[in-house]
Amino acid sequence: MTASIVSLKGVNKSFGPIDVLHDINLEVRAGEVLCLLGDNGAGKSTLIRLLSGVHQPTSGEILMDGAPVRLTTPREAADRGIATVHQFGGTFPLMSIGRSFFVGVEPTKGWGPFKVFDRKFANEVAVKAVQSFGITRITDGDRLVGGLSGGERQSLAIARAVHFGARVLILDEPTAALGVKQAAHVLRIVNEAKRRGLAVVFITHQVMHAMAVGDHFAVLIRGAVASDFRKGEKTREEITDLMAGGETMATLEASIEGYMASHDGHPPSPAH
Ligand SMILES: Nc1ncnc2c1ncn2[C@@H]1O[C@H](COP(=O)(O)OP(=O)(O)OP(=O)(O)O)[C@@H](O)[C@H]1O
Ligand SMILES: [Mg+2]
Repeated sequence: MTASIVSLKGVNKSFGPIDVLHDINLEVRAGEVLCLLGDNGAGKSTLIRLLSGVHQPTSGEILMDGAPVRLTTPREAADRGIATVHQFGGTFPLMSIGRSFFVGVEPTKGWGPFKVFDRKFANEVAVKAVQSFGITRITDGDRLVGGLSGGERQSLAIARAVHFGARVLILDEPTAALGVKQAAHVLRIVNEAKRRGLAVVFITHQVMHAMAVGDHFAVLIRGAVASDFRKGEKTREEITDLMAGGETMATLEASIEGYMASHDGHPPSPAH
C-alpha cells in the first residue's frame, strides 16, 4: 500500500447540537480511490467539506503527509493540493473552455496596460490537458463550457485540477446525473487520475460505479464509519446492504411489498 496523503484521526463534527460525524478514522492514499458510501444524510458531503476546507472538525485531527493541518478555508485546502469537483463540474457555463481552465491564473501576453489574456495559449493548454485524459472530442478551446455534456464538464474540471498540481481529488457524486456512457467516461478518467498517483475520494450511491474504481471503501451510517474494507473483501450484495444503512435489500423489498399489499398496490411515496 502507498503512503497516506491525508489521514483523519478521531474526527467529530457537530453543527450546534446536531452531531453529524462521530470518531472518523480514515486514510486517503496516493494512487488509490477511496469510495465513500452511505445512505442520504449519512454525512458523506460533510466529511468531504472538512477535507476541502469548507467546515472544520469540532474535534479530532486532519493530517497531511503525517503532519496535522488546519484547513480553515477552501483556498487553504486548494493550496495544499486538495481539489474538489462537484456534481456539475463546477466550471463556468458562459466561459470558453480555455478561459474557464485558467480562471484566477490567467496567462497574459504583452506588458503593463497592453497586457491581454493569452487566448491562444490558454486554449492550447486546456485542450491538450483534456485530451490527455482521453476526451478527444474536445478540440476547440473557444467552445463554451455550457455547450459541453455533463461528462465532458466533469472531465474538464478533473483535467484542470490535475494540471494545476492537485494531489487529492474529491468527487461528490460525479456520476449521479450522467447516463451510462458518460458515467463510464468519468469513471475512466477517475482511473486515469489514480494511475497518475493522485489520491481520489469518490462519493457515489451506485454500487457498480464504486466497484469500477474503488480500491478502498468506507461506509458511513449515521455519521460513523460502519464498515471499512478493501477491494474484493465484500460482494456487491454486501456493499448494497451496507449502503442501505445496514438493512438487507431483501428486508426492504419485503417491507415495500407489505406496504403495497395493504395500500391497493400503491408503492410508498418517495420521502421528501
Ligand atoms: N450546516 C449544517 N447544519 C446542520 N446540519 C447539517 C449541516 N450540514 C449537514 N447537516 C446534516 O448532517 C447530516 C449529513 O448530511 P450530509 O450532507 O453530509 O449527508 P450525505 O451523506 O452527503 O447525504 P446525501 O447522500 O443525501 O448527499 C444531515 O442530517 C444534514 O442535515
Ligand atoms: Mg451529499
